[in-house]
Amino acid sequence: MTDHARQYVAAIDQGTTSSRCIVFDRDGAIVSVDQREHRQIFPKPGWVEHDATEIWSKVQAVVAGALAKAGLRADQLAALGITNQRETTVLWDRATGKPVHNAIVWQDTRTSALCAELGGTDGQDRFREQTGLPLASYFSGPKAAWLLDNVPGLRARAERGEIAFGTVDSWLIWNLTGGVEGGRHVTDVTNAGRTMLMNLSTLQWDPTILSAMNVPESVLPEIASSSEVYGTAVGQLAGVPVASALGDQHAAVFGQACYEVGSAKNTYGTGSFLLLNTGGRPVPSKSGLLTTMGYKIGTEAPVYCLEGSIAITGALVQWFRDQLGIIRTADEIETLAASVPDNGGAYIVPAFSGLFAPYWRSDARGVITGLTRYVTKAHLARAVLEATSWQTREVVDAMYQDSGVRITSLKVDGGMTGNNLLMQHQADVLDVPVVRPKVSETTCLGAAYAAGLATGVWNDLDELRSHWRKDVEWTPAMDASVRDREYRNWRRAVERSFGWHE
Ligand code: G3P
Repeated sequence: MTDHARQYVAAIDQGTTSSRCIVFDRDGAIVSVDQREHRQIFPKPGWVEHDATEIWSKVQAVVAGALAKAGLRADQLAALGITNQRETTVLWDRATGKPVHNAIVWQDTRTSALCAELGGTDGQDRFREQTGLPLASYFSGPKAAWLLDNVPGLRARAERGEIAFGTVDSWLIWNLTGGVEGGRHVTDVTNAGRTMLMNLSTLQWDPTILSAMNVPESVLPEIASSSEVYGTAVGQLAGVPVASALGDQHAAVFGQACYEVGSAKNTYGTGSFLLLNTGGRPVPSKSGLLTTMGYKIGTEAPVYCLEGSIAITGALVQWFRDQLGIIRTADEIETLAASVPDNGGAYIVPAFSGLFAPYWRSDARGVITGLTRYVTKAHLARAVLEATSWQTREVVDAMYQDSGVRITSLKVDGGMTGNNLLMQHQADVLDVPVVRPKVSETTCLGAAYAAGLATGVWNDLDELRSHWRKDVEWTPAMDASVRDREYRNWRRAVERSFGWHE
């Protein structure tokens, strides 16, 4: 088989609730998709875990599923790209390949007290200059430290070099490239940048932070670019170059062709993450945003972003469905919400894991305000959807304060963009058009693009940019006085969510 026969690129998106594999052709069009959910484990309030072994087997299953649906063999793939839920932390035994504990998921708040302690008199900003991040339970470094201190005997084993740390990208690449039989222990800059252990300027592990957090360097993977061949897969993908890794939000930036300074995208998944390309220099935030990597293609200079991370958006719809049982499927929320003209005065602030951007309040917990006997489940359905657009509005305001860049339109992607009522409300409250591309699977697409660039499937960013096509555009139609009044109400509701948990 010559390389000429390798016409397709596969991408694995290992997300918070499911794993997906999508096969793309050379035009960036989808050939096949396979997807499987994995278990969400909630051992205590605020704790969220995944079984990393289950994740690895689901990933293998979706790869097999996507190839079978496309009628393709592994030797027809030019490359495999990886994109993943970020920050989720796995520690495993290098000799057995077994995780030493369930993975601690990004939403998990068990390290809040540890983060407060680490902040000391400097508070949340102790490591912000080096990492671009506030000290918060969201990031991986404190999660790794927690595991090292709480799994009996683990720290001694780690110090003997027996334990590997990884975000989900590392865990998958290590397994894909051979696992205990010589798998490569590597991560990319976008994922490493979310550990709070990487220095944003040097793109290396920062020794002062490692020592402050008491994380031994021996557990850490090598840091590589987001687009290069890390190794060759074994097993069902034998011979396929594993050629990209990007945290899911960074992959979406890449898949949405946000290559110019000032271009922005918002991905609506479990949470929502709005990233603005700020170019070759990290821009510090004073307004509660994260300074984060955009991507780094091989040996080219890195691209940075400002990010507004919202912990709970789609997950609020899931909660409304699963915990309250008001709807049976996520799609039903749109019909229910559309049966009333407004929210009836109700607002829901979904501070289930505290509040992320722009507040970073781990003491916040969810609240519903404005209840009267007039309020029905339909009004609450509206309030659930509006919580997503208002949280996004707060992040967009913070972006303007930090960068002086006023976005003129917002590229969107992710599951919730199928909800017209929500997308219209989003355009209304931002007062800019909201645009969804034809290929809305931008996370997988971004990982595929980065893998295809590393292996010569595509030549450059211009070629990738030429694939982007508009599908739907929602134009703002809300009266300014209504928008301003509702926004004030939303912010009053947010204030009510503070101070419930120390
Ligand atoms: O930072 C967390 C983010 O990467 C999770 O994304 O789409 O899996 O909810 P998602």
